[in-house]
Amino acid sequence: MKERTFIAIKPDAVQRGLIGKIITRIEDKGFKISGLKMIQVTEELAAKHYAEHIGKPFYPDLVKFITSAPIIAMVVEGENAVTAMRQLMGKTNPANAEAGSIRADYSQEMSYNSIHGSDSPESAEREIAIYFKPEEICSWTTMFEILKAKLEG
Ligand code: RTP
Ligand code: MG
Repeated sequence: MKERTFIAIKPDAVQRGLIGKIITRIEDKGFKISGLKMIQVTEELAAKHYAEHIGKPFYPDLVKFITSAPIIAMVVEGENAVTAMRQLMGKTNPANAEAGSIRADYSQEMSYNSIHGSDSPESAEREIAIYFKPEEICSWTTMFEILKAKLEG
């Protein structure tokens, strides 16, 4: 099922010059990027994004981190994009992330785990609306989609 998700390359990965490598992993899987921008997250924006975590012990450090440098915000589309991107990202704690996943390959600590991905289709729509205006999301067709349409009619 075609689906879209919200992905962010977090400040640690931006600071380490990993933007290109992480975007390549997403493109290599065959996902379509339909929205992409660099943003400096403010405390207000962080509170909207991480509303579910407000009041938790790690929340102040999470906000300090996510506002510490720009992020790359993306809308990513593909088959079961929410779950498939969470698989590509790996578990929250990089120490437990599956070998070959982005978090396993590029990060060491839970608090600096390089990438965010929505945890459900509902979260995805909520987060996309926080970060993107509708006109900032492009509707386009990949060559693979053209090939599939030709084969499957
Ligand atoms: P994310 O939202 O960033 O994609 O990560 P996630 O779904 O895998 O994990 P989530 O539970 O939503 O937590 C959001 C981020 O907060 C930090 N965290 N620290 N110290 C802790 O117990 C703790 N728990 C979560 C992580 O950086 C996590 O990515
Ligand atoms: Mg989460």
